[in-house]
Formats: sequence, C-alpha cells, structure tokens
Amino acid sequence: MALTMNIVILAAGQGKRMRSDLPKVLHPLAGKPMLAHVIDTARALNAAKICVVVGHGGEQVRQSLAAPDLAWAIQEPQLGTGHAVLQAIPLAVPPAPTLVLYGDVPLIRAATLRRLIEAAGEDQLALLTAHLANPHGYGRIVRVDGEVTRIVEEKDADDAERLIREINTGILVAPGAALARWLPQLGNRNAQGEYYLTDIVALAVAEGMPVVTAHPDAPWETAGINSKAQLAALERIHQRNLAEALMGEGVTLADPARIDVRGELVCGRDVSIDVNCVFEGRVVLGDGVRINANCVIQDAVVGAGSIIGPFARLRPGTRLAEDVHVGNFVEVKNSTIAAHSKANHLAYIGDATVGSRVNVGAGTITCNYDGANKHRTVIEDDVFIGSDTQLVAPVTVGRGATLGAGTTLTRDAPPDALTVSRPKQISVTGWKRPVKQKKA
Ligand code: UD1
Ligand code: CA
Repeated sequence: MALTMNIVILAAGQGKRMRSDLPKVLHPLAGKPMLAHVIDTARALNAAKICVVVGHGGEQVRQSLAAPDLAWAIQEPQLGTGHAVLQAIPLAVPPAPTLVLYGDVPLIRAATLRRLIEAAGEDQLALLTAHLANPHGYGRIVRVDGEVTRIVEEKDADDAERLIREINTGILVAPGAALARWLPQLGNRNAQGEYYLTDIVALAVAEGMPVVTAHPDAPWETAGINSKAQLAALERIHQRNLAEALMGEGVTLADPARIDVRGELVCGRDVSIDVNCVFEGRVVLGDGVRINANCVIQDAVVGAGSIIGPFARLRPGTRLAEDVHVGNFVEVKNSTIAAHSKANHLAYIGDATVGSRVNVGAGTITCNYDGANKHRTVIEDDVFIGSDTQLVAPVTVGRGATLGAGTTLTRDAPPDALTVSRPKQISVTGWKRPVKQKKA
C-alpha cells in the first residue's frame, strides 16, 4: 500500500452486558483478547500509526497489550464515538487518511479494509456499509439520488428512515486533515446526548467531499460483541473459518465443528485430527501425523508419522521426532522424544530427554519436581522402562538399559543392564486373612 495511514481503534466502552470485571475488549476469542485480533489486523495494513482509545479499565487494557508500535489515548468520560476519535487526533500523522476500527469487532478482515482504504483514496470519505434484512439498532445510511448524504442513528431516525436497510458498520476511512477539522465541530444535540462520529458524513457532504462506500464479504466481519452469547457465537464462526482453512490445506478433520484452535496450527501433508482436540499457542504437526480424539496440545512440535492420543496432553516445550506414539492419559511437558519411541499408557514425561526406540511402560512417572526445583531426566536410546516406574530426577538411564516394573530409580541406571529396585518377592505360607470381630 502506497499510502501512509493512521488507524484508530475505539475500545473505551464499558461492555456492561458482559457482566464481568475484565474489560470487554480483553475477553478472549480463540484464546486471544478480542482487541488483539483487531490490532493484528491493523498491523497487517502497514499503518504509520496505530492508536488505541481506551477508557473503562484502560490501564489494564494498556498493560495487557502494550507494544512499541501502539499509541494509547485515554477517553474519560466517554461522550460518544466522535469524542473518542477526537482523543486520538493529537497522536495521528496529520495529513494521512485515518481508518477507524473497533476493539469489539474482532473478525474484520484485512482484505475488506484494503478495499475500503482504496475506495477512500487520499481525499474522500469511505464508509463500510452493509445491507441487512433486519437493520434494527444500527445507524442508517441515508441516500438521495443514490448519493450518501448523512447517517442517522436508530434512536434519532423517523419511521421512513428506520425502513432503510443499508446500515453503518461504524468502520470508515476519512482524510486526516478533514477529520481533524470536523471532529471539534460535532455537537451532541441528539437522542443520546453523544458526540456522534457518524455526523462527519453530513459535514463532508456540506464541503462537497465525495462519500463512497465499500462492503464486507461476510456478515461476521462486522459483528460486534456486547454479551457472552455474542462472544460465543463469534467464537464458533471463527473456529469454523479456521477449520475450513485447515481442510483447504488438506488436513482431514473428523468433524470441523469439533476442533478448537487457539493460536497457530501448522500442519504437514496428510494430517488427520479426530474430534474434540484443542490446540493452543503454536503447534506444528508433521506429515502424516494422526491426532486421536480428545487431545490438548499446546506449544508443541509433533514429528512426521507420530500418533497422539486419544486423551493425550502435550504441554509447552514438547518436541517429538518422527513416528513417536503418545497414548491415552499420557502427559508430556518440556521434553524431547526421539524417533520411534512410545509412551502409550498413563505416564508423565516432564523435563526429560528421551532417546530413540525407547519404550516407556504404563504408569511411568518422571519425578521432576522436588518441591522447590525442577530437574531433568535423561533416557538414552533403546531403553525399556517397565510399568509403574518412578524416575527421580536428576537421573540418567543408560543406553539399552532395562528397568524392572515398579522400579523407583534414584541413581543412574547403567547401560545394557537390568535395574530393579523393588524388594525381593516373598510368600508367607500359613498366613490368614483377618476376620471381622463379632460385637460383644
Ligand atoms: C455505532 C454507530 C452506528 C453503527 C454502530 C455499529 C455512532 C454514533 N453510531 O453505534 O451508526 O451502526 O456503531 O455497531 O458512531 N466507544 C468509545 N467511546 C465512546 C463511545 C463508544 O470508545 O464514547 C466505542 C465502544 O466501545 C464501541 C464502539 O465505540 O466499541 C461503538 O460504540 P457504541 O456506543 O456501541 O455505538 P452504537 O450505538 O452501537
Ligand atoms: Ca454498538
């Protein structure tokens, strides 16, 4: 994009209907604050300046999302959308066009915004509008002979204006100098006693500035969030979109309605994912990986051909090489597991380095935490660990070693040897089971 541009994101509203102590724009969508989605989209547009206008819980919002490329304006009290944008004007690069976005409209797409920005050029006002079957609650786009003349809010509209089905999404691009001139002229003599940003349209028309419109591709792009129900509805739409994108890349999903991606999921060829899996942070799945049902995978790399789950949990720092099997009720954290190794049942592998062709028996636990510090467990290639073994870290199991079932390993196990720690098995002949005493 040739133009330098300012982006102002309005995020000062309280969000009373969320009924929450957390500021509305920090509520997560796909694991990320809704405002962070808008900021990331703004970044994709290469703006000269991104300014976020905060009010309610503003300090908390700023602390959560602070970044060197963001400028912050405080709007206190909140006197309307026009008053909100006015707070950002001193931070803007004056002559450049300004794009206005909303912290509670998280799914707006960069491609749609590029169309709006192109429609505006350097010296026109561009509005993102949509035609709705039910326009109730929105500002209406008033046209005369096809030309936009003003926007009227629902509460200020007469009966004829309420029938207009073209609505204002709120998103617009205005030439910077004109915007700085118009905003201080806005009045608040309207049904809500607010300084309406939408009143700049009539000011542009009065100056003879062309007002143009562009439209979103999908209705969810401009959907705002005011309640937990709307948040959940947009979450489902977003997850469905992410699932469609994965399938488009060739990923097999058992049910696109039953996968949750809360971060970045990178998949190789012929990956298949069964139902009810949750992916958080950055997860990389190699070619041919199979994720069985009900797995939770966070910040992990899974090598080609590996099979995970059902009911497995891969926590941050998990690095699996190719053809690794992690089965049911197995948790792996901050550990690397080399090729062809298996932990198929009921195990905890934490802070461990596991070699190739290792078999981790059912119920094996790395005791990585002594109550104060974490310690590492090293399991070298070709080790066989019997069931119900505890590896008390720091400890190393040498190459080719075998640990007998039930071993509590507190010192290193030598390579190629059998190590067992349980006491010798004894049998007591003539032993009797206790019997219940008769009450006197
Ligand atoms: C606004 C538009 C309306 C449009 C609708 C789309 C105006 C006057 N009206 O109405 O034409 O159809 O959005 O949803 O702009 N905000 C602030 N500070 C304020 C007031 C609002 O930051 O002082 C923020 C809110 O947090 C919210 C956004 O601006 O994210 C919109 O405010 P809201 O009061 O919901 O505007 P609407 O009445 O819905
Ligand atoms: Ca609104």
